[in-house]
Amino acid sequence: MAAQPLIAPSILSADLARLGEQIAEVEAAGADWIHIDVMDGRFVPPISFGQVLVAACRRATRLPLDVHLMVQEPEGMLASFAEAGADHIHIHFEASSPVERSLQAIRDLGCKAGLALNPATPAAAVGELLPLLDIVLVMSVNPGYSGQAFIPAALPKATTIREMLDAAGGRALIEIDGGIDAGTLPAAQAAGVGVFVAGNAIYQHPGGVAAGVAALQQAAAQPVSP
Ligand code: DX5
Ligand code: ZN
Repeated sequence: MAAQPLIAPSILSADLARLGEQIAEVEAAGADWIHIDVMDGRFVPPISFGQVLVAACRRATRLPLDVHLMVQEPEGMLASFAEAGADHIHIHFEASSPVERSLQAIRDLGCKAGLALNPATPAAAVGELLPLLDIVLVMSVNPGYSGQAFIPAALPKATTIREMLDAAGGRALIEIDGGIDAGTLPAAQAAGVGVFVAGNAIYQHPGGVAAGVAALQQAAAQPVSP
């Protein structure tokens, strides 16, 4: 995977009537991954995207597709998302059992395996799973909607996970999702996060999509204050 920090626009906040253009705009602006929020109406209230949408994104870009499954019992659909073109598949710790088998299945499909943790799920949840993880997705909002306020308790949790990874010699990336903008990004970066999902901060930026990506890139490039 590319060097950090990485910016992953969430198309949940995009103008879906112009999805191809909206993906091209973030790609041209230097975004690194495309984050796709799959919601099943069970694990979270809304129903959003499925395999057909992932396949459409696959045709629209060569950027890695970062597929976040907010889905209860995702086991039966991992292969179809891989086939649709997902590069990374995140399952939720709270939604899959046994989670080890699903993570291994994602890798066996040739994808990067990600484990998402809801705000109320402690860092310790990932402990025994670290060898199976390529990415830890720390949720900094309760999943289901774009545009929610950042939950600061995600920061010490990210730091704890970073320390667990370092102690284990793990190379997994830490990604954060929810309420990330130029104001919240630097603290997340200081906490050990390397990948930043952003929906509204990019697709609803008053200066346009490119300005939204640039603002996050600039925030990530600032020296960390002591
Ligand atoms: C929330 C989704 C997020 C969401 C982020 O459940 O997982 O990816 O789109 O949107 P913002 O950045 O607006 O909080
Ligand atoms: Zn997401």
